[in-house]
Amino acid sequence: MPIRVQRLRIGASRPLAHGGCALGRSARQLARLDARDREWLVTIRSRLLDGAPEPPAGRFNAGQKINFVLVCILLGVLYISGVETIVAGTHHNLIFGGHKLATIAACGLVASHLYMAVLNPATRHSLRGMLTGKVDRAWAREHYPRWEP
Ligand code: HEM
Repeated sequence: MPIRVQRLRIGASRPLAHGGCALGRSARQLARLDARDREWLVTIRSRLLDGAPEPPAGRFNAGQKINFVLVCILLGVLYISGVETIVAGTHHNLIFGGHKLATIAACGLVASHLYMAVLNPATRHSLRGMLTGKVDRAWAREHYPRWEP
């Protein structure tokens, strides 16, 4: 049976505040690294090289949490450096260099997520969660065993 991953529905029948609460709760969960997340991070090498098992994740794994923080930082850098470029009227300076570097880093994150969402069979199911707001309960139990929806 599918489970809802995000209780966000913005429409006439549902006040915007509900969506805001769900987003706020997700952001708080994403911004907090617990001891299990730190274990997830330090075991990346052994998982990739020796096929060690993945420590159980909650609703988000540590990689997703780090990605969230990076995306927030990169969008902040892009916004600030973009506005500064408009105000300064030139892009021949270091700040615009930051704009380009942040763009390259963001492209790396997007490319790796396209791989996970479209190509990698182990993670492809999560695309359904992004498109429909729901994922299979069995899949969630396997990939996010500490998640209690
Ligand atoms: C996801 C967010 C963004 C991405 C990926 C992005 C990416 C880029 C790229 C690739 C360029 C061209 C770099 C080059 O010429 O070598 C550029 C130029 C520029 N961006 Fe952004 N940008 C983003 C957001 C913003 C924002 C929020 C602003 C301002 C509010 C902004 C303002 C500018 C300006 C002013 C230029 C220079 C245009 C010119 O005079 O040629 N960007 N951006």
